[in-house]
Amino acid sequence: MRFSQTLVILSGIASAFAIPTAPSFAVAQRDLPSVQSNQLRRALLRSELLKKAKILEGFAYATPERNRLIGTPGHNATVNWIKDTIEQFPDYYTYYLEPFDLSLGVSANLTNNNVSMEVFAVGLSPAGSVSGPLVVIPNLGCETADFSTVTPGSIILVGRGNCQSAVKNALGSTAGAIGMLVYNNVEGNLDGYSLQRITTPEGSYVPAGGISKADGEALVARIQAGETIVADLSTEMKVSTTYNVIAETIGGDHENVIHMSGHSDSVAAGPGINDNGSGTISLLEVAIQLTNFSVTNAVRFSWWSREEEGLLGATYYVSQQPQSELDKIRLMLDFDMMASPNYAYQIYDGDGSAFGESGPPGSGEAEHEFERYFAEEAGLNFTSIEFDGRSDYGPFLEAGVATGGIACGAEGIKTVEEAAMFGGQAGIAYDICYHSACDNYENLNVGAWIQMTKAIAHMTATFARSFDLLPARSEAAKAKRMAMAKKMMSDKAIGALWGV
Ligand SMILES: *[C@@H]1O[C@H](CO)[C@@H](O)[C@H](O)[C@H]1NC(C)=O
Ligand SMILES: *[C@@H]1O[C@H](CO)[C@@H](O)[C@H](O)[C@H]1NC(C)=O
Ligand SMILES: *[C@@H]1O[C@H](CO)[C@@H](O)[C@H](O)[C@H]1NC(C)=O
Ligand SMILES: *[C@@H]1O[C@H](CO)[C@@H](O)[C@H](O)[C@H]1NC(C)=O
Ligand SMILES: *[C@@H]1O[C@H](CO)[C@@H](O)[C@H](O)[C@H]1NC(C)=O
Ligand SMILES: *[C@@H]1O[C@H](CO)[C@@H](O)[C@H](O)[C@H]1NC(C)=O
Repeated sequence: MRFSQTLVILSGIASAFAIPTAPSFAVAQRDLPSVQSNQLRRALLRSELLKKAKILEGFAYATPERNRLIGTPGHNATVNWIKDTIEQFPDYYTYYLEPFDLSLGVSANLTNNNVSMEVFAVGLSPAGSVSGPLVVIPNLGCETADFSTVTPGSIILVGRGNCQSAVKNALGSTAGAIGMLVYNNVEGNLDGYSLQRITTPEGSYVPAGGISKADGEALVARIQAGETIVADLSTEMKVSTTYNVIAETIGGDHENVIHMSGHSDSVAAGPGINDNGSGTISLLEVAIQLTNFSVTNAVRFSWWSREEEGLLGATYYVSQQPQSELDKIRLMLDFDMMASPNYAYQIYDGDGSAFGESGPPGSGEAEHEFERYFAEEAGLNFTSIEFDGRSDYGPFLEAGVATGGIACGAEGIKTVEEAAMFGGQAGIAYDICYHSACDNYENLNVGAWIQMTKAIAHMTATFARSFDLLPARSEAAKAKRMAMAKKMMSDKAIGALWGV
């Protein structure tokens, strides 16, 4: 028997509030000066960032777990604090909390022909007890044709990889399977693994368990040698509700939105003050200071509730928006890890010039504007990082939305060249406290943090004024956007984003 801390979304509940549509937005902007990058940047203070970091750390340290993990009071306090802060500007922002149900995988048990085996509950799958013969699925089970040998009442045995395990699970369920065992494609167990997808366009889900590569391959070999194996799988989940916070300027054109996002939770290991409290706070501070300015385009801020590998909050949000609403988002920028102690200024490679994969049209332009800002206005060095999907823009990409972002680095090792560019120490991680208990107030590099926050302010101001830098909107441009997104999502590197 194993316990896992997998976070799962069982089902979404309807939003408690909805962003008011046109009439309420008709409320005139106050008589404010039009937002300017340099003025917005000037309003940002290190002291305000640090004060807010202390508050977040306080939320974590007020709990026995000393973290802000989803489903805990520390995370709840964070969400409520963001909401309360935004609520102080009722003339400037509307906001809503978008709830969804999360479930912790509490335990899972598995036997094959009455012999017990190690197994982990797979996040997002239902709780339940199922028993049936194992059927080996060929080709990693990403196509309907792979399920032609599935018999009703069987449990599918499928390898990890090539597509989200949600796809394998739903295709198996549609073919009549009542359960799924997914085996790893690398060494290591599947603790914390999840279906990665909230919606189930291919069908409904069945209880799933994750097993090791060696165990999976051994079962496949036995079945292929002619043995019938009956598996008994049971999974137990614990449900809790969590919230995305979404705020939008009352002023500005709501048909043309700049969407700025970060997320609100930490991992279990520590208070998560750089990861990703820093992004949470940078966004909040920019949102606060923006209230002294008017905008031409609406600015939306979101703080996702999510799980470490799941991008669940952002995925849920995207799943709830019709494509016509997503099309109004001209650009989505994502911010995490804004204050790494041994930082590098990293810009996502939206145009594919450094790593070969470009994002939907508009992503390259966003990267160029970040680069121009760092080089010409801030006078800072920067590097490119791959659109590696280690952030909440993944689901937006899939919907064809232009995306971008910046980061300061996580567990990656700083190179000698980067140490020359940014100072700090070569040969050690950008953030030695990444995902650990020491990711607290002391871990922050406030010099890097204020620069990153100013870069966020620059992009906010620039696109709140105008989208002239982005490709014009048209059906042809949309088709191209969707095609690029599709290509990117099928790419292996981006597949890794979903933890497939
Ligand atoms: C989170 O806060 C809400 C009120 O905003 C409360 O109803 C709920 O019980 C809290 N949950 C936890 C886990 O603290
Ligand atoms: C498993 O055990 C049950 C009862 O303990 C028995 O009825 C069943 O035949 C066993 N199944 C196999 C495949 O050995
Ligand atoms: C797994 O077995 C353990 C020990 O018997 C039990 O406590 C737990 O509830 C079981 N979990 C499920 C999902 O059956
Ligand atoms: C914080 O952001 C980084 C970089 O985007 C990501 O790798 C990490 O998983 C995030 N942490 C949490 C707790 O979500
Ligand atoms: C807006 O500007 C006024 C005047 O400079 C200042 O007092 C106020 O603190 C600013 N508002 C915010 C939210 O910073
Ligand atoms: C940029 O990097 C170069 C080394 O590549 C270094 O000499 C220079 O001082 C750096 N500039 C800044 C502003 O850090």
